[in-house]
Amino acid sequence: MEGSVSITVVSASDIIIARDLGRKIGKELNFSQTDLTIIATVISELARNIILFAKQGNILLSSTKQGNKVGIMISAEDKGPGIPDVFLAMQDGYSTGKGLGLGLPGVKRLMDEFEILTETGKGTKVTVIKWSI
Ligand SMILES: Nc1ncnc2c1ncn2[C@@H]1O[C@H](COP(=O)(O)OP(=O)(O)O)[C@@H](O)[C@H]1O
Ligand SMILES: [Mg+2]
Repeated sequence: MEGSVSITVVSASDIIIARDLGRKIGKELNFSQTDLTIIATVISELARNIILFAKQGNILLSSTKQGNKVGIMISAEDKGPGIPDVFLAMQDGYSTGKGLGLGLPGVKRLMDEFEILTETGKGTKVTVIKWSI
């Protein structure tokens, strides 16, 4: 895969499109079936957060390299309300909605790299990477 692909996320069907594209890219990068499921789960969770808390945003999928490692980079970006307390949002069981509050901490556990940039009133960007062996 060359470059990256951006999916606008506004509805449930967009989550499926992003998830399936992530699987396709992951497959091209020789990820295992287990990892492909993890990748799909992470994309679904981040896309769901966009819809729930920011109404709309983008999922960016790209292949990435570091030394001899190859991986998939998933970036979820929105111009929503932002997260006032990231530390709190990263605690298991913390949710301002009706969720289980396992989304963000779960995503962090499932991926190799995790970064969250957020500003109240400006938006949120969550970038994660999974390396393939
Ligand atoms: N994109 C986002 N924009 C604004 N707030 C968010 C976003 N994603 C997550 N949050 C906040 O972080 C909290 C924790 O997220 P998460 O762990 O996914 O749990 P849940 O989705 O079950 O509430 C959410 O309840 C919400 O307050
Ligand atoms: Mg969530």
